[in-house]
Amino acid sequence: MVATIIDGKAFAATVRGKVAGHVARLKADHGIIPGLAVVLVGEDPASQVYVRSKGKMTVEVGMNSYEHKLEADTSEADLLALIDQLNTDPEVHGILVQLPLPGHLNEALVINAIDPAKDVDGFHISNVGLLATGQKAMVPCTPLGCLMMLRDHLGSLSGLNAVVIGRSNIVGKPMAQLLLGDSCTVTIAHSRTKDILAVSRRADIVVAAVGRPQMVTGDWIKPGATVIDVGINRIDAPEKGEGKTRLVGDCDFDSCAEVAGAITPVPGGVGPMTIACLLANTVTACSRAHGLAEPEGLTA
Ligand code: GUN
Repeated sequence: MVATIIDGKAFAATVRGKVAGHVARLKADHGIIPGLAVVLVGEDPASQVYVRSKGKMTVEVGMNSYEHKLEADTSEADLLALIDQLNTDPEVHGILVQLPLPGHLNEALVINAIDPAKDVDGFHISNVGLLATGQKAMVPCTPLGCLMMLRDHLGSLSGLNAVVIGRSNIVGKPMAQLLLGDSCTVTIAHSRTKDILAVSRRADIVVAAVGRPQMVTGDWIKPGATVIDVGINRIDAPEKGEGKTRLVGDCDFDSCAEVAGAITPVPGGVGPMTIACLLANTVTACSRAHGLAEPEGLTA
């Protein structure tokens, strides 16, 4: 293996430490405690795990955590009424509605009901537009975490060729906007891209966010490139015993690490950065709401 491993777990702990420092200053100097409200509708097991983990880390950095767990058959009107209440609550600086929502609820309608200034996921149409036009936005957590790791590892990204594999609203598209904002030459590749291997091999930066286990192999990677693997896929692992599984990324770690200059592992790469950036966005939203200086190094 030639690649440096980018330790997302350690980096996320550093980010949470910076958030905790800023929270402590807000409390000491202004008597303000940032608050994050998380809304979970239904009982999707993966979502329950995420929400528990978010709540725990929110409290660990000194912020208030408000959890709202609603029945799976909650009506759209009731959910919108709760969002309205959170929008006007001065103790709440960040609102996250856990996705996916049950099928009877209109996700776009619900997300766009959140006050954009409290939209710590950065999914509101206003924040999408602000990001795309280079204005001050709330930025989606996973791409923000990827950007922080890239800046930390590479310094300036200016002029680099970046390929984002995947075109989702949550990762691919905002990631491309952020890389463009840092003056990369950006290509978004996807399932219909012709000769995707050749496209990927031109990149100094590859961000893989397709949700297909180990799709990107070493032959897709330019020697020395930086590879950010956003995928979290559970696959069978018969080598660990019958019925066992393991987590893998969208990149085939072993073959990519033979060629890349640096790579994020799965688990322990991008994953821990997402919640760290959610906390960062919450303290940013709180600072902005009070007209105070934003935390340095925690925004795009
Ligand atoms: N479900 C899985 N990841 C996320 C996330 O980052 N935000 C929200 N709102 N829902 C999710």
